[in-house]
Amino acid sequence: MAQNLTRKILSAHLAKPSEMKAGEEIFLKVDQTLTHDINAVMTYLAFEAIGLDRTRVETSVSYLDHNLLYLDHKTPDDHIYLQSAAKKFGVYVSRPGNGICHAVQVARFGAPGKLSMGGDSHTPHGGSIGMLCIGVGGMDVATAMTGVPMRLKMPQVIRVNLTGKLKPGCNAKEVILEMLRRNTVKGGLGKVYEYVGPGASTLEVSDRVTITNMGAELGATTSIFPADEMVRKFMTAEGREEEFVELCPDEGCSYDGEIEINLSELEPLIACPHQPDNVTTVWEVEKKKVQQVLIGGCTNGSYKDIAKAALVLKGHHVQEDVSCTCTISSKQIYKQLLKDGYLEMLIDAGVRLLELACGPCCAIGQSPATDGVAVRTTNRNFKGRAGNPTAKVYLVSPETAAATAITGTFTTAEEIMGADVAILDEIKEPEHYPVDDSMIIKPLTNEEAAKVEIVRGPNIAPLPVPDAPEQYLNCKVSLKTVDNITTDDITPASAEFSSMRSNIPLMSQYCYHRYDPTFAARAKELGRSIIIGGENYGQGSSREHAAINPMYLGVKAVIAKSMARIHKGNLVNHGIIPMIFEDPSDYDRIDQMDELEIENLRDQMMTREVTVNDRTKGISFKAKLELSDSELEVILCGGQLRYLKEELKNMGVIQETIE
Ligand code: F3S
Repeated sequence: MAQNLTRKILSAHLAKPSEMKAGEEIFLKVDQTLTHDINAVMTYLAFEAIGLDRTRVETSVSYLDHNLLYLDHKTPDDHIYLQSAAKKFGVYVSRPGNGICHAVQVARFGAPGKLSMGGDSHTPHGGSIGMLCIGVGGMDVATAMTGVPMRLKMPQVIRVNLTGKLKPGCNAKEVILEMLRRNTVKGGLGKVYEYVGPGASTLEVSDRVTITNMGAELGATTSIFPADEMVRKFMTAEGREEEFVELCPDEGCSYDGEIEINLSELEPLIACPHQPDNVTTVWEVEKKKVQQVLIGGCTNGSYKDIAKAALVLKGHHVQEDVSCTCTISSKQIYKQLLKDGYLEMLIDAGVRLLELACGPCCAIGQSPATDGVAVRTTNRNFKGRAGNPTAKVYLVSPETAAATAITGTFTTAEEIMGADVAILDEIKEPEHYPVDDSMIIKPLTNEEAAKVEIVRGPNIAPLPVPDAPEQYLNCKVSLKTVDNITTDDITPASAEFSSMRSNIPLMSQYCYHRYDPTFAARAKELGRSIIIGGENYGQGSSREHAAINPMYLGVKAVIAKSMARIHKGNLVNHGIIPMIFEDPSDYDRIDQMDELEIENLRDQMMTREVTVNDRTKGISFKAKLELSDSELEVILCGGQLRYLKEELKNMGVIQETIE
């Protein structure tokens, strides 16, 4: 039977059941895992606690790429721990300075047809080369590393038919911003977007990564392009042509839905504060004085992106009130740009080249000024994401960012270059990248690994393990949130906060710090509590600290109007019961500090419908558990670590469970 590309890859990795039905749970064998420094300590602590001596997937890579600002001992402690844990467990390490995880993964490890799970929401970046790449929480990565098939709700597969060709001055960023404008940050829930059609074959891999990477902002499970001639060209340029396999949807295959986008009709677009789907054209947006421009990041830090930005800036200078910085996505791209003279153009124009790292994208340096307007080519503009909740962040293409840096207000490349904008179309990805893997540490042999001691500095605190839910729950509402709470709201990012993530007792003191600085102390004092959330609770980054920190503070359940996929999985993994209001209007009847009571909780959970009594208001309401059978087992067991250890013990792989 003719199959679309997504189903082809899923069926090649299917462990059970024998059929894949949209909305039902499937279990998949994983080929590759990815972790990065500011989320990974929990992953490797969990892997240590599981008790296996080596990763059991083909390729696991640990990236030291997000936080390279060593403000004090904490981050270097983390990096030394991670590097030693990788040596112990047979994991590759991409050292600081080699580049941003997704760019390096696709260039040096990815291959068409593989299935990857990464502890970062932008893992779908790898869909650019015909891989199926899914962002998950850190505990899930630890689970995948055991070789146990991973659960996934079978997504719907949506065909995105691209026609036409991008105009000069337009970027693949316009495609994903158009998708967000049409479909919103919730539109992709439970979906895979498969980009096909004649327009898709005009896009190089560096264009495709912008779309698949930022597809995370749609809430999608992942996004994918076929492995076609463009992918062959990319793999050849990486010196890995032998790993290329052509992989396209079968002719006549079916999809669960279809979207049409004519690339020729797209104009330069801009996402306005504070959501990536708040999109309009650069022509129409209200002009504001811009304080900061950031070009690069994993979404738009490719050779072509940076070269185009350099050409827009050539012969101009960054406006005197603008701070303009650039984060190139990998060392090999940096070297090629240097060789071809583009870095000189950027430097001459007054652009400051930053480290080959995520840095400002996750608030590690370069926070905007008070009330500052920042224009970025990255993928998220949530309030506070850039490190300053008063800042207003706009998302654009590198071409628009460069033009904006020149004028100090929102400007397109065409407005700067006139008819010369056509020369941007001539920039293509190199035929060969200056490949140099000397910054990648290869896994040790089993004998060598056995001698490695894992190094634990004082910042590496033990992993907290939750208890199983009890039959009777009586506690107060420690927080009632608005809609679209992000994991950045729950666990703020910055150089300072990110360096605390391996120390939960410390980090939990800053839980919801930017949203409600009184929350952590209140939750701790209550001892046990429930959070009430609005729509799309937990959207954004995959960081599982947004589950671990509330769990550590005694949060037993989150009841929301709707919930983001990765965050829901993280709550399950860390023993917090995720519930959805059966009637969303009940949200309005509950207030912070109301006393809630649930009787026969465990029995009610089995029915997936729970009656909650609000003893303060004297009312009752119903909440649903939108969980699969195995997710329910996990949560009843007290989280993924307890569950997995039970399972591995039953399989005879390990001896001990958690008491
Ligand atoms: Fe890094 Fe930002 Fe991408 S934090 S992985 S550059 S989304």
